[in-house]
Formats: sequence, structure tokens, C-alpha cells
Amino acid sequence: MAKEYDNVIDFTLGDPDVPPHQAIKDAGCVAIQTGKTRYSQNAGLLDLRKTISNYYVKTEGLPYDAFNEIIVTVGAMEGLYLALLSILNPNDEVIIPAPYYVNYVQMVQMCHAKPVIVDNPKIKDLSFNINDIEKAITDKTKAIIINTPSNPSGRIISIEKMDALATLAKKHDLIVISDEVYKSLIYDGVIFRSIVTCDGMRERTILINSLSKEFCMTGWRIGYVLAPEEVISAMTKLQENVAACAPLPSQYAAIEALSKGKEYSAGMLEIFLHRRNLLVEGIKSISLLDCSCPEATFYLMVDISKTGMKSEQFALELLKRNQVAVVPGITYGKSCDNYVRIAFTLNEEKIKEGLKRIRLFIETL
Ligand SMILES: Cc1ncc(COP(=O)(O)O)c(C=O)c1O
Repeated sequence: MAKEYDNVIDFTLGDPDVPPHQAIKDAGCVAIQTGKTRYSQNAGLLDLRKTISNYYVKTEGLPYDAFNEIIVTVGAMEGLYLALLSILNPNDEVIIPAPYYVNYVQMVQMCHAKPVIVDNPKIKDLSFNINDIEKAITDKTKAIIINTPSNPSGRIISIEKMDALATLAKKHDLIVISDEVYKSLIYDGVIFRSIVTCDGMRERTILINSLSKEFCMTGWRIGYVLAPEEVISAMTKLQENVAACAPLPSQYAAIEALSKGKEYSAGMLEIFLHRRNLLVEGIKSISLLDCSCPEATFYLMVDISKTGMKSEQFALELLKRNQVAVVPGITYGKSCDNYVRIAFTLNEEKIKEGLKRIRLFIETL
């Protein structure tokens, strides 16, 4: 619908307008110009897997073996899909706590398994309840997918909740797929801890990550998965039939990106931090709207409950009347229907214009 209007401020995309660091682009161009344009091994270039392995030791203190415990994928999306394909049998159940990234549901369905969404409308603060998760576990439950920091909430799962999830996973023999694609976009020194670091979790955790958000490389399509050897081995066989490998020039660019890490991504974090502060301040100053400050990611959930509208109606009216596109919270679960999601993947000028239009929309309700 947004495409039917001219001059829309589009706050819907998780696709940042910030370009990757010049050295990363150069590495991709050099790869193309020097003929590094063929297939790689299904699991990805060994040099890239070694770089990922070193990166995790350096940044998280987590040792993963480059030969057996890492695969390079076509973005985190393909990593998630291959991981699910490799562990699920038809009719297995996968628990997905709300708010959730909608693709998880569809990917589980594509594996002929059943997504079990844990979404308690009584919970108003964009988090989930451990008791609700335990109640959803049956003898068919194979896995649970968590996303921390979360798209859309911008929150990090607390250490206490993470420990409780780990205890549940061990008690019920579940695999945890932990989607951590936003873990480099954390503000104000908030501490992030992966579930894989909880006691006894390494053997049952599949870590999903990518360069899309960390280095603003969405279209380069490089993701990776760290997991026990049996999972990576199954994923590698599936990769042969799905994509053969991730694009080779992008794999060379990824080696450059991950070998420098923060040196190339810190500038982006600064940009997003500035935009986040601008948006939070702007939304809080508009009557009837509220938000809490996201700890991470480039998403802000705006509380619209005082407008009396539900999220879909709010989004449609805002688009029709003032040409601002936002995502209705219902997309992420019923408990999010009092919210709309704004992505601060647009420049400051557009953010200011968007805020101006949202203010006008509210004032003329
Ligand atoms: C939570 C989450 N996981 C995975 C992805 C996919 O990332 P990639 O570009 O690496 O496939 C996204 C993209 O928006 C996301 O928000």
C-alpha cells in the first residue's frame, strides 16, 4: 500500500541506509576483479570459518571448531532454515515466544513441523513468561527459538530468564536456536549474554548470526551458524541442495569485516544511537504516544494504546492520512497489538520529517 503514495516516510524496513565500511566494499570488489567468483565449499571458505572462529574466541571467549562446528550461510535466514531442516521431523513442535520475528513461523511450517506460538495477551511489556513456555511444552516439542536482542522489542533477554530457559531446555531435552543477529547493536553498555554460556547448553544450542546488521551488509547475504558437529554436518549436506554456498565475493568481504570487527562497526553504532535518542525523545513528546528506550537493535516499539486504535488501524490511517509507513504490532503477536514498530534505518532528516507527520496525525485525530 505504501508504494501507492508519493513521498512516503517508510519506517518499516530492517534494512539500514548506512553503507558498509569502505575496506569491506573494497575487499568484495577485489575478490570479483581477481576471479574469486566461483563456488566455495558447501560450508563456506575455510579461511572465513577460521575468521569466525577467532572472532568468537576474541569477542565472546567461545571456542568453535572452524572445520566441524561452523557453517557459512546465505544470511541468517538460510542459517535458520537449514538449522530447522536439519533437526525437525514432520509434526515436531517448535516453541516461538512472542514478540517474534514472523519468518520463524513460516520456516517451521516449511519444514512440515508445527510452530507453537507462546503469546500471552495479558503481558503488556513485550516480553514472555517462562511459565507460559513450560505449559506449551509437549512430548512433540523439539526446539525453541529465541531472539535476543529482539526484533521488534529492542530488548535483551535477562540473565535470570536465560538461566530459567536453559533449565527448561535441559529438563525437557530441547534444542535452543538462538538468533543473535542484533547482538552487536547494543547501546549504553548493557550486558548481553548468550544462552550457550549457560551450564550444559553448548551441546543443545544452535547460534545464528550474520553480517547483515552488524556491518550493514544486508544485501551481501552472509550469515553463519555455530553448533555441535552433528548439526553442522547435516546443515552442510542440505546446503549442497539449497544454495551450494554463500556468494564467494561476499565471503571475502566478510573475512575483511570480521577480522577488524568493531573497528568497522563502531561508527554505525554511533549513528543508530543518535537516531534512537532522537526518536525516543520525539515520540515521548507526542501526546497519546509512549515508548520505552530500546536497549539494542534499530527498532522502536511505540505504545499506541491511548489512541484507542489497534495496531493495524493505526498503521493504515497513518499511511493514508500522513504518508508514514510503520509495522502494526500484531505482526509480532497478539500481545503487541497496542504497538507499532518503527525502524530507525532512515537518515536523521527523514526521521525528523516522519516525527513531524506522526505528531500531525495524532493532533488531527
Ligand atoms: C531477528 C532476525 N533474524 C534474522 C534476520 C535475517 O537476517 P539476514 O539478513 O542475515 O538473513 C532478520 C532480518 O531482519 C531479523 O530481524
